[in-house]
Amino acid sequence: MGRENLPQISIPPYILRIKPYVPGKPIEEVKRELGLKKVIKLASNENPLGPSPKAIQAIKEYAAQVNLYPDGGGWRLRKVLSEKLGLERENIILGNGSDEIVSLITRVFLREGEEVIIGDPSFLMYSIDAQLSGGKVISVSLKDFRLDLKKMKEAITSKTRLIFIDNPNNPTGTIVKEDEVRDFLDKLPPHILVIFDEAYYEYVDDPGYPQTLDFVKEERNVIILRTFSKIYGLAGLRVGYGIAKKEIIAVLNRARSPFNVNSLAQVAALASLEDEDQVKRSRKLVEEEKEFLYSRLRKLGLSFIPTQANFILIKIGKGAGKIEQALLRRGIIVRGMAGYDLSEYIRVTIGTRKQNEEFLGSLQKILSSAG
Ligand SMILES: Cc1ncc(COP(=O)(O)O)c(C=O)c1O
Repeated sequence: MGRENLPQISIPPYILRIKPYVPGKPIEEVKRELGLKKVIKLASNENPLGPSPKAIQAIKEYAAQVNLYPDGGGWRLRKVLSEKLGLERENIILGNGSDEIVSLITRVFLREGEEVIIGDPSFLMYSIDAQLSGGKVISVSLKDFRLDLKKMKEAITSKTRLIFIDNPNNPTGTIVKEDEVRDFLDKLPPHILVIFDEAYYEYVDDPGYPQTLDFVKEERNVIILRTFSKIYGLAGLRVGYGIAKKEIIAVLNRARSPFNVNSLAQVAALASLEDEDQVKRSRKLVEEEKEFLYSRLRKLGLSFIPTQANFILIKIGKGAGKIEQALLRRGIIVRGMAGYDLSEYIRVTIGTRKQNEEFLGSLQKILSSAG
């Protein structure tokens, strides 16, 4: 699209340079475009077990009240979350997905020319939101597929405002640990806010995973992001939350639109929090299926990055893009990694046994016909 088709309003070059985020393809789109009847999506790290039955029930019961605006402050959900976390309601902000909180953070805390440090590769929205505020993105390469906190700290300048620690990191599934994170936070200048994105928090089983809530309790300049999109299976409703000291939450609230989290999302999130069984089931599925996928991938001679999340980064080699397309034609959506500068890899969400078998079966057939 040419610039001439836009209204005669100046748009900063840093906005025109942004590459839009490309999400995993929706199932319906693939069915429509490829004329397929059955499609499996393993591209967006959703929960294949679906939402909690309690959440579905809560949505049904609340449906007749959607003529009313939601509780803009999300009072009950924030209260229940804060009690669960041992904090207060004022320590929590709700977002239309944790995505929205990333954009609130960059809008509030970042001005043109200021710097944001992120891992490379890491979740793409940090860079997009930082650029929307005219921020300068300082990308620090991963080391052995993990965030390199030492290098990230060395990248700090007087212009640094935000540092995003995606933990587990998307797309690698790796974590940084408590002692590394403590060293990182030590003597950090006061003009810096550190964001711990813990979208996959509930899946982590490594005992060295940092207890970031302690950092909030210590009143540090940190924000933790968590979401109902992943283990709670509510990605379609868009609800996530940020945890920080009260002063940080209060200033983010100034930028939040009044009804950012809809009422069905709020009731479903509340009901999900009451369903510990569903969380346990989902965690167990990922634990078991992760091992199943590892062993089958090894048999196929493929290498992968051991994960702490519900997705696996798999090395396919030079033809990874073609393999991704071939899987798509067979009705299996995985995530190509060209957008993350990992063009030899695909990222695959851990599915049910049946889904994983179908993925592996198709992959094997495609690889053997290609080789
Ligand atoms: C690391 C990370 N952060 C945030 C998000 C966004 O999640 P939400 O659905 O809560 O906006 C994702 C989604 O894929 C993610 O991988």
